[in-house]
Amino acid sequence: KPVILSGMQPSSDSLHLGNYIGALGNWVTMQDEFDAFYCVVDLHAITVPQDPKELRERTRSTAAQYIAAGIDTDKSTLFIQSHVQAHTQIAWVLNTITGFGEASRMTQFKDKSAKQGADAASVGLFTYPILMAADILAYQANVVPVGEDQRQHLELTRDLAMRFNSRFGETFTIPEGHILKETAKIYDLQTPTAKMSKSAETEAGLLKIMDDPAVTAKKVMRAVTDADGEIRFDRENKPGVANLLTIFSVLSGRSIDDLVNEYAGGGYGGLKKDLAEQVTASFTPIRERTNELLSDPAELDRILGKAADRASEVADATLAKVYDAIGLLPRH
Ligand code: TYM
Repeated sequence: KPVILSGMQPSSDSLHLGNYIGALGNWVTMQDEFDAFYCVVDLHAITVPQDPKELRERTRSTAAQYIAAGIDTDKSTLFIQSHVQAHTQIAWVLNTITGFGEASRMTQFKDKSAKQGADAASVGLFTYPILMAADILAYQANVVPVGEDQRQHLELTRDLAMRFNSRFGETFTIPEGHILKETAKIYDLQTPTAKMSKSAETEAGLLKIMDDPAVTAKKVMRAVTDADGEIRFDRENKPGVANLLTIFSVLSGRSIDDLVNEYAGGGYGGLKKDLAEQVTASFTPIRERTNELLSDPAELDRILGKAADRASEVADATLAKVYDAIGLLPRH
């Protein structure tokens, strides 16, 4: 079976709708056809300041949300990034073949460091995409399912893999992105021109899996739309309504045309009310199952430990190839 790898940061108490639609939903459908590795990228999360106690809780909770959303730990290897040493070891080697200018062009770094101020941003934030490349290449992944915002990081990963292979001999599989166009980007409900993101200024535009249904409903009802009152799909001129229709379509499995036909005559209120119900219906079973899983942390940790063993076997084999290819003296 071809290999897939993907990961998410445990940087909030809950995954949001963008994570769910842009990534996690695809992970669930892809786990049958692929040898799937899914990780919680805690080492990426620490590239911005974290509270240690919260980080530990969020890491476990993120893993629980993967399982609750449908990742089957008998089929997929679901593990914590920091449990597998080879990620950082391979990342170091990749650091040495990455150009400073090349890394400086990463737009996510530019955005995040601009927010923090250039002096406050860490070197870890700068080399973040290189650790991501190591995550992917360690498993010789063929396919990487991510949202549109990760496209540039994936291109860097491919460049580094090809560069390494041409300098030191065939070592890495060159991965392909799997980015679904129509669901690739979910926007903030309050600022429908910005992607939905946990680093948004307010939480009002962020739909979180672990939110109470009443909170979710309120956020949907207050979503920013526009003044013309017409329900049609027009990303450019009606970004708020287009986003609501996209979310509704993906979660319900109905086409956008079908939804537009049904709601065209009415106002935004009816559309929002039904969408709120749809989102709540999608999130509730995941939230409840997550809480159940978190009530037995020892069992969850046992599952994660077993998966880390399996992941380490694969990643260690790649690390050995990498070290050998670049000429490090083996330890005897
Ligand atoms: P992260 O944690 O920011 O996001 C996790 C996944 O969710 C997708 N996503 C979205 N998709 C659609 N609309 C949105 N508004 C939205 N917001 C987030 C992201 O594209 C991503 O797929 N660097 C990665 C984590 C990572 C990784 C990896 C991914 C580390 N190593 C190896 C793949 C392979 C990140 O920060 O994702």
